[in-house]
Amino acid sequence: MTNHHRSVISLQVNGVPHRLSVDNRRTLLDALREDIGHTGPKKGCDHGQCGACTVLWTAGGWCPA
Ligand code: FES
Repeated sequence: MTNHHRSVISLQVNGVPHRLSVDNRRTLLDALREDIGHTGPKKGCDHGQCGACTVLWTAGGWCPA
């Protein structure tokens, strides 16, 4: 895959900064679980209905990962 299909992103998870090069189709859930090893959020229904993948944003609120 060529580099134009990837992006470098910065995340801070529970106070720990992370910088990742990810495929542009990567979900936040997969980046959290597979790239960072943060297994708290889970893939449940995969349709935004069960809340298993929900994470809190630093700025407040929540988001299905
Ligand atoms: S997996 Fe069910 S809401 Fe995300």
